[in-house]
Amino acid sequence: MRLASYKIGVIPGDGIGQEVTAHAKAVLSTVGVRFGVSFEFRDGMAGGTAYDALGDPFPAETERLCRESDAILFGAVGGPKWDALPREKRPEAAILGLRKNFNLFANLRPAVMFDPLVEASTLKAEVVRGLDLLVVREGVGGIYFGAPRMTEQVSPGEERALDTLVYTSSEIRRIVRVGMEMASVRGKKLLSVDKENVLESSRLWRKITKEVAGEFPDVEVSHMYVDAAAMELIRDPLQFDVIVTGNMFGDILSDAASMLTGSIGMLASANLNEEGFGVFEPVHGTAPDIAGQDKANPIAAVMSAAMLCRYALKRADMADAIEASVSKVLGDGLRTSDIHTPGTTLVGCAEMGGCLMNLVGD
Ligand code: IPM
Ligand code: MG
Repeated sequence: MRLASYKIGVIPGDGIGQEVTAHAKAVLSTVGVRFGVSFEFRDGMAGGTAYDALGDPFPAETERLCRESDAILFGAVGGPKWDALPREKRPEAAILGLRKNFNLFANLRPAVMFDPLVEASTLKAEVVRGLDLLVVREGVGGIYFGAPRMTEQVSPGEERALDTLVYTSSEIRRIVRVGMEMASVRGKKLLSVDKENVLESSRLWRKITKEVAGEFPDVEVSHMYVDAAAMELIRDPLQFDVIVTGNMFGDILSDAASMLTGSIGMLASANLNEEGFGVFEPVHGTAPDIAGQDKANPIAAVMSAAMLCRYALKRADMADAIEASVSKVLGDGLRTSDIHTPGTTLVGCAEMGGCLMNLVGD
């Protein structure tokens, strides 16, 4: 029998993206050996690192690498060193460019509480124990990409800057359908988040969501304004199953959801297009304050590799094996500093990554 083989583009980016992606890659290759799948990894540059080397945060050769790959493992981009650059040269242009160029409209961000970590959350254990929610964030539209956007001088000493929040019915329909599909194989509950009491685009969002709800009679659909959703997420997060929302609301709510689990260092994400191609990345950023010090938590990156197996390769068995190794390592009491609590063992990024690799598929 021929061995299944996949081309994986690896884009570590900046800061801790470098360290955590190396471990995600190692775990992926080990799980591949255990399950008889071979990976051909090819590295690409993006973000501030690429700007420094080539003057472009998302170089054409990185884009080509992505086109030639079956899936992309991405780290993180950004850092104070590049903050003063114009928007199109900033490191963030890399991930935004990837999402836009490959039409990665479906940004899946699961927030799952691993039981051994309930004490690491800033919320009470009974509020977060058993948490398993999924934020489905629209990734290529809304205020992130709407035109016009500009800054202009209106008079001496006075500037005016504007962004545009725009959604079409088809953009809303396709992301809400993803939310419904996810809900129908999970807890059968979907919350759509908008700001319909104020925004025109949210009125359309809610109207289309109600229409799509008709296609999924077994999913219970509800609606909430984003401010109320933010509040409910902190008050009683266990009420949620799938949350579908626009680009910017999803950006904000997914960071909030991540902290319920103890640390943003735990959260993985997938950016998918209609063809099933995807970029898999931790939700966290580059953490310049701890970069290169062996302090980062590699779990979010490793869990992103699990999502790559689940959604790009359709190998739930490999994804389950990776997630099981995370559970085991946490059950054994190993913790990076972001999730460290009294009575557990503090380890660095390398040791955590090494243990995950050794345990995967055992
Ligand atoms: C995220 C990040 C990005 C975003 C930044 C780095 C552009 O915050 O993936 O959530 O805002 O989408
Ligand atoms: Mg964000």
